[in-house]
Amino acid sequence: MPDLHVVILAAGKGTRMKSSLPKVLHSVAGRPMLEHVLRTAATLSPRTVTLVVGYLAESIRLALSDRPDLQLVVQEPQLGTGHALLQTAPVLERLAGALLLLSADVPLLRARTLERILEMHESSHAAATVLTAQVERPYGYGRIVRVEGRISRIVEERDASPAERQIKEVNSGIYAFDLEPLFPALRSLGTQNAQGEYYLPDLVRIYRRQHRVVETVTLERADEVRGINSRTELAEVNRIVRQTKNEELMAAGVTIEDPATTYVDPDVQVGPDTVIHPGVHLEGQTQVGAACEIHAGVRIVDSVLEDRVTIRNFCVIQDSRIASGAVVGPFAHLRPGSDLRQNAHVGNFVELKKTVLGAGSKANHLAYLGDATIGEDVNVGAGTITCNYDGVQKNPTVIEDGAFIGSDSQLIAPVTVGRGAYVAAGSSITEDVPAGSLAIGRGKQVNKEGWAERKKKAIGDRR
Ligand code: UD1
Ligand code: CA
Repeated sequence: MPDLHVVILAAGKGTRMKSSLPKVLHSVAGRPMLEHVLRTAATLSPRTVTLVVGYLAESIRLALSDRPDLQLVVQEPQLGTGHALLQTAPVLERLAGALLLLSADVPLLRARTLERILEMHESSHAAATVLTAQVERPYGYGRIVRVEGRISRIVEERDASPAERQIKEVNSGIYAFDLEPLFPALRSLGTQNAQGEYYLPDLVRIYRRQHRVVETVTLERADEVRGINSRTELAEVNRIVRQTKNEELMAAGVTIEDPATTYVDPDVQVGPDTVIHPGVHLEGQTQVGAACEIHAGVRIVDSVLEDRVTIRNFCVIQDSRIASGAVVGPFAHLRPGSDLRQNAHVGNFVELKKTVLGAGSKANHLAYLGDATIGEDVNVGAGTITCNYDGVQKNPTVIEDGAFIGSDSQLIAPVTVGRGAYVAAGSSITEDVPAGSLAIGRGKQVNKEGWAERKKKAIGDRR
């Protein structure tokens, strides 16, 4: 195959989004739509990737600051898709080979489809190869006008005659071009159309007049070439990605009670026989093992769950690890660095941060455990708080195997509770507790007998 160069158009205003964020940075399945297009393009190992930016170019440049491999070309003002591609002349005009043109607002395109376009492009020695699709509702897309079966031109919605508007084969906005005749042809584009813009699809008509070969590749299922121009289309595309992911998981043995309300990002893995209830979000690089149960309203981000983990309703879990057999929730918050070992239990209104909860240990009610290392078979009573922050820095708490922390205790860090030690309920622990001992850190109780009766009398006397 000859050299391949990819150009991605992302300079348009995206007016219909009504947003101060560039359209191509809006999120599809948890990452910017531009990122999807870049990833798909990368699978073809192109010689160069050039991005045409214009409207809100600085925001896009910033978002791509970690991608020095991309060439950015600015289109200012934005005079149409043909004008946009022409701006790449300084970096591409003297090169040879094929140019694959992608649109940053068409994020679902599959690598396999791009390969099909390039195969057709090479084997037919075409000057241009257009990816088209058969759709039920062609409104808004450019229509493919064929004469004797061959593509003769593309007409935009606003320029189309009533008869042309009936055509259901549409332009995806994705093309392969032979670099050799491309830039002279782009310079010959005019603006005699409803929008007064330089239309890239007009190249088809120009090439046909020059008797050059123009080919098409047609998709039967148009979902992957859905363009995003409005928030409604953004939601539709997100729904398609979600549905595809959910179907994949179900085919692999995951039960999803209500796919319509289950949000699983593309990179997430879920093992067989796991049950996912409605309203669950599994995001980022999350991995869920086999035979887990995730109840309604749970959000899990970039976390690892081993097998047979139960997450009860309404938990938020981020950057955490949960070993097999553990039970979490309802209403628990595992913040980054939470590490639950086998069969650990975290109950309602418990918050963890940078904390290891050892195998078989339990913190079942109303607790805050931060910067703590908790051993095995520890019982953390209701209302326990690790006071980890002294106003300047975070301090560690260590609770060794088999310790028992009575309810409503404060462990003022840095502090260690030794192996098998007991902390009496209601204690404020400021010093280390030796293994096997009982620490009581609270005011001693005084009972004043007959006090209530005496008080009643005193009030009566005053009346
Ligand atoms: C375009 C095609 C249409 C096709 C549709 C598929 C044209 C004239 N029409 O229409 O045939 O069916 O895509 O989705 O090409 N852009 C620039 N600079 C500009 C204008 C646009 O970079 O001056 C970029 C946009 O950021 C976007 C892409 O080009 O990524 C397409 O532009 P858009 O305005 O969305 O074109 P459509 O009306 O969707
Ligand atoms: Ca578009």
